[in-house]
Amino acid sequence: MSRLVTGIAELVTNDPTRDDDPLGVLTDAALVVEDGTVVWAGPAADAPEADDQLDVGGRAVVPGFVDSHAHLVFAGDRAAEFEARMSGARYDGGGIGTTVAATRAASDAELRDRLIGLLAEMRRQGTTTVEVKSGYGLTVEDEARCLRLAAGVTPETTFLGAHVVPAEYADRADEYVALVTGPMLAACAPHARWVDVFCEPASAHAFDGDQTRAVLEAGRAAGLGLRVHANQLSAGPGVRLAVELGAASADHCTHLTSGDVDALAGGTTVATLLPGVEFSTRSPYPDARRLLDAGVTVALATDCNPGSCFTSSMAFCIALAVREMRMTPAEALWAATAGGAAALRRSDVGHLAPGARADLAVLDAPSHRHLAYRPGVPLVSALELPR
Ligand code: NIG
Ligand code: FE
Repeated sequence: MSRLVTGIAELVTNDPTRDDDPLGVLTDAALVVEDGTVVWAGPAADAPEADDQLDVGGRAVVPGFVDSHAHLVFAGDRAAEFEARMSGARYDGGGIGTTVAATRAASDAELRDRLIGLLAEMRRQGTTTVEVKSGYGLTVEDEARCLRLAAGVTPETTFLGAHVVPAEYADRADEYVALVTGPMLAACAPHARWVDVFCEPASAHAFDGDQTRAVLEAGRAAGLGLRVHANQLSAGPGVRLAVELGAASADHCTHLTSGDVDALAGGTTVATLLPGVEFSTRSPYPDARRLLDAGVTVALATDCNPGSCFTSSMAFCIALAVREMRMTPAEALWAATAGGAAALRRSDVGHLAPGARADLAVLDAPSHRHLAYRPGVPLVSALELPR
């Protein structure tokens, strides 16, 4: 069954073969989808025949957003912590324990309902691929069940047993790391594609460089790909470890030394920026221009979680990236789509060239620029194409 999508005022393809324009923009375009895959994209005047047709009425179509960093398996909320921060309290990851307690106390059904609700909220806002981390269970059983639930909704599942040292291991962080790299990893690896660590020596709750290395090496030995929460609160060792160990992504990258930027520029690790976190923790934004100018591949993601940033909106992150980090609208959209795909080492999503998954997002606007130009306006949603 083939479907011709017409009436596309502007089609952003991110066609990786177009050197002239990373967004691969086509105006007055059309696209043919067959069995969930893009089979043709080009000028409307050249469109081939198809079994049926869908006219989007002069709107822009972009690749569905790839949100490569989200924490969606949890219970409770931390609105009071957010309110305190807005009055001057600092974020140091200490509030994660509150969510751990609520998550441990929640039933599978409660966690699944919350997860599915957040995914639907994301899809309504144009996100078609989502990575989901554990990290609020922090026991062997609770981490494994959070990942089992995540694996029911996405292949991009990440074991984050090393999120913080849980209260029952206070002052015994190395014992907790042994649990994470031993029985917890063994129980979680079957449900995970990735392993992640909150590497932050500046936080009393998170992990230092040696502990991070131990978790990443154990995860890699168990067959998992690597990702790191790196350099969020200070210029710690996270980014350099991520690059050295060949991680797919170093996430946050808020505090970078020139050595960190050089390492990213010389490696294969994507720098995933999460400007919703800086917004929601009232922190300085990462220096996206410095990374882009150094030739680093940059992704944008929400980090949707109940603590440091409870937004599910990639469009909001694009607007922040443009307004606060001086990314161009084109750079920000690329980072939120193709950049996210690179951070997940996926070549089937984040673009709309022939062969890509037919994950289309449609804007109630004629151009992708409106994503940043009209902040906070619900312009974008995933296009539901009956299969
Ligand atoms: O990416 N920094 C560590 N982890 C999350 C926040 C989790 C939370 O506060 O609940 C982050 O910001
Ligand atoms: Fe995170």
